[in-house]
Amino acid sequence: MFNRILVTGGAGFIGSNFIRYILENYPEIDIVNLDLLTYAGSLENLKDLPSQDNYHFIQGDILDQELIQKILREREINGIVHFAAESHVDRSILGPDAFMQTNILGTFSLLESAKKVWLDEKKLGDDDVRFHHISTDEVYGTLAPDDPAFEENTPYAPNSPYAASKASSDHLVRSYTHTYGLPTTLTNCTNNYGPYQFPEKLIPLIILNALDGKDLPIYGDGQQIRDWLYVEDHCEAIWQVLQNGEMGESYCIGGNNQPANLEIIDTICEILDELKPNPEGKPYASQKTFVTDRPGHDRRYAMKIDKIKSELGWEPKHNLKDGLLKTLHWYLAQEDWIDAIHKEKDYQSWVDKNYSKRKETEK
Ligand code: NAD
Ligand code: DAU
Repeated sequence: MFNRILVTGGAGFIGSNFIRYILENYPEIDIVNLDLLTYAGSLENLKDLPSQDNYHFIQGDILDQELIQKILREREINGIVHFAAESHVDRSILGPDAFMQTNILGTFSLLESAKKVWLDEKKLGDDDVRFHHISTDEVYGTLAPDDPAFEENTPYAPNSPYAASKASSDHLVRSYTHTYGLPTTLTNCTNNYGPYQFPEKLIPLIILNALDGKDLPIYGDGQQIRDWLYVEDHCEAIWQVLQNGEMGESYCIGGNNQPANLEIIDTICEILDELKPNPEGKPYASQKTFVTDRPGHDRRYAMKIDKIKSELGWEPKHNLKDGLLKTLHWYLAQEDWIDAIHKEKDYQSWVDKNYSKRKETEK
């Protein structure tokens, strides 16, 4: 078992859920969380962990090879789960530099460090160590309405600077296995949602804007399709692949939920109308506003999950309605977290930058 794990980016959305999932279900595992605490990472996401006994936080940059090597040696790390990244597509369009630094060079820095400590110094083998890289379905590009869903051997065709930087990092991971024999696994996952997601992303943005009486911005015609996965299901899949996945293999992960954006926004509004009706009696859907589309916006994603299902027995446990209900209940109970996150570094200036120039459009 890989039981001394370095998690990178564990103060972000999925990473913090993953740490909570492990501490709850596998209390014997030691975790070191290395996170730079960029605008997207917050210690607020790690308050009230089930246990702190086997958990250690280090604030640092994945570009810092010396620091990573020190952690690998001193903590005798035998598993790396690499979440740290710049993750928001809109930010990659308005400012791609950080994506190239963190997603490409940061992954390179981790791979180099793992190779040096695990392979060059200690001569560890395939069963001793594992580097698990977290990637996205966006590396496969976009689907036309009748195209078959993405699967592990779909050719890469990334369309945004974010997706291109993730594709580059995936290729680097592959090359370190092929060339040096570094034991890696890789997962490509669809859109996650659930507790602790930063409100720049669609689902938390819609929830919080609705409650604040603000516009609900819909890019283009709102008919873009994503495949939505409840974050806890993703964490379970990562754990399975880390412990039981075949070295050098990649696995596609998805939620089997593929509504159009407009449908998901309407569902959120309907649930909120029930759970916390607007004080003036107006339906939340009346706040929907169509705005200028995202440049290069991918139209449709869908994922085949046959491989992980047949080889590792994983499939999602939550359907979209259950997952959304849990998520909405969570956000409605988190005034302190929301306050803290809204005050995070540059959040308001990001909102102004991304939305102020988007014109309201007729639909
Ligand atoms: P996030 O933006 O919420 O969190 C990213 C975390 O990485 C933050 O805590 C941030 O502080 C940290 N970080 C950024 N740069 C760093 C650096 N140089 N050194 C150390 N830490 C750094 O991201 P997320 O949504 O949790 O996504 C996690 C991973 O999963 C990413 O690799 C992303 O590409 C991938 N992914 C996300 C989704 C999704 O729907 N959110 C879906 C598929 C794959
Ligand atoms: O597919 C996996 C990817 O999902 C991950 O790799 C990314 O890290 C993650 O951010 C997510 O990317 P998306 O671009 O799909 O997520 P986002 O929440 O930004 O947008 C979801 C959809 O909603 C997309 O079609 C754009 C649309 N949208 C988004 C925002 C923020 C809107 O219509 N209005 C908005 O204000």
